[in-house]
Amino acid sequence: MKLVAKRLDVVEPSPTLAITAKAKALQAQGIDVVGFGAGEPDFDTPDHIKEAAKKAMDAGKTKYTPVSGTPSLKAAIIDKLKKENGLEYKPNEIIVGTGGKQVIYNFFMATLNPGDEVIIPAPYWVSYADIVRLAEGVPVIVSTTPEANFQITPEQLKAAITPKTKVFIFNSPSNPTGAAYSKKDVEALCKVLENEEIITLSDDIYEKIIYDGYEFINPAMISAKMKEKTFVINGVSKAYSMTGWRIGYGAGNAEIIKNMDTMQGQSTSNPSSISQAAAEEALKGDQSCVETMRVAFDKRRKLIVDLLNEIPGFRCNLPQGAFYAFPYIDGVYQFPKFAKALAESGETSKSKFFCDKLLDDYKVAAVPGIAFGDDNSLRLSYALGEDDIRKGLDRIKQMVLDLQ
Ligand SMILES: Cc1ncc(COP(=O)(O)O)c(C=O)c1O
Repeated sequence: MKLVAKRLDVVEPSPTLAITAKAKALQAQGIDVVGFGAGEPDFDTPDHIKEAAKKAMDAGKTKYTPVSGTPSLKAAIIDKLKKENGLEYKPNEIIVGTGGKQVIYNFFMATLNPGDEVIIPAPYWVSYADIVRLAEGVPVIVSTTPEANFQITPEQLKAAITPKTKVFIFNSPSNPTGAAYSKKDVEALCKVLENEEIITLSDDIYEKIIYDGYEFINPAMISAKMKEKTFVINGVSKAYSMTGWRIGYGAGNAEIIKNMDTMQGQSTSNPSSISQAAAEEALKGDQSCVETMRVAFDKRRKLIVDLLNEIPGFRCNLPQGAFYAFPYIDGVYQFPKFAKALAESGETSKSKFFCDKLLDDYKVAAVPGIAFGDDNSLRLSYALGEDDIRKGLDRIKQMVLDLQ
């Protein structure tokens, strides 16, 4: 008997979750693993946010809420988007979901017909292409390079558009590269998009983790015309260290929101009532916790990039946002011992071979670039202490020296 539905043939389990689980299993056996795999801040959720959750429980806010979120959380989101991004929305243009990931999933389920194309610049967040395929869409991957700061150019975007293009995914600052588009660069992309019948999905989840005076900008903020054509995704996971609470939100066209509400109503119903109360406090309460975490990430960012660039065969851009370093390691692939070990292993992906060996033999977890559509690279999350960063980087350097 065939137990599993065919629709699952098109998706892969999340490689970042798989690597993190393997590293945690080794740690549970008492093995000293340095984990650069996780896509979450290492800080505790700030106390005032936890207090709001406790208060919500004590006040009996433990029942179903409207599917698309409580009116008071929606009001806090509308306020945030107006104050911080200059974008005005009505409550029927907002949906709250169980993490940004569910909002993205429901967005694609609500908008794509079979065969619709979705332009995804690579390197990309691992889930985009799989979610698009699950929704019977076709991912159209456009590769970018470290020399171009991992940014898609207007020319590349134009060339990728066909009559079947339905959505363009814009993610800045980006997971996995940490690259962030300047206002000028976003304007140039919008010049192409303004005249097309394409929805831009702007994934703003790393909006608040930015460096060196970078000013956040998304396509909806460029013009009224672009706001009409853009669907914004954001959430509290990364900015407020609330990954486990599972609250994300979407803002955009009311008809899309209505259909996402139907999807959500027939699958999960509302996101947790207690988490919604906590997210409301995150958005409305004291914001100094965001800055404290950002400053800590900034210090680690400089440390890890400096150390990565000292490793033979590595080159790493200084990311402008998020908490990932994305070194290019194609130089290592030229080393004779690496090439010999790779050939003997039979592994076809160089970055996967590198990361498997790194975890098995040197006890360091990193995610292979192939998971993000770029086999020349690795992703290292720097959401861990500076001593661990140094220890992990020493081990990576040792492995590279052993493979030279
Ligand atoms: C680019 C990007 N978008 C969206 C998400 C979803 O985050 P969450 O579902 O925790 O809100 C993530 C999480 O890793 C991400 O990296």
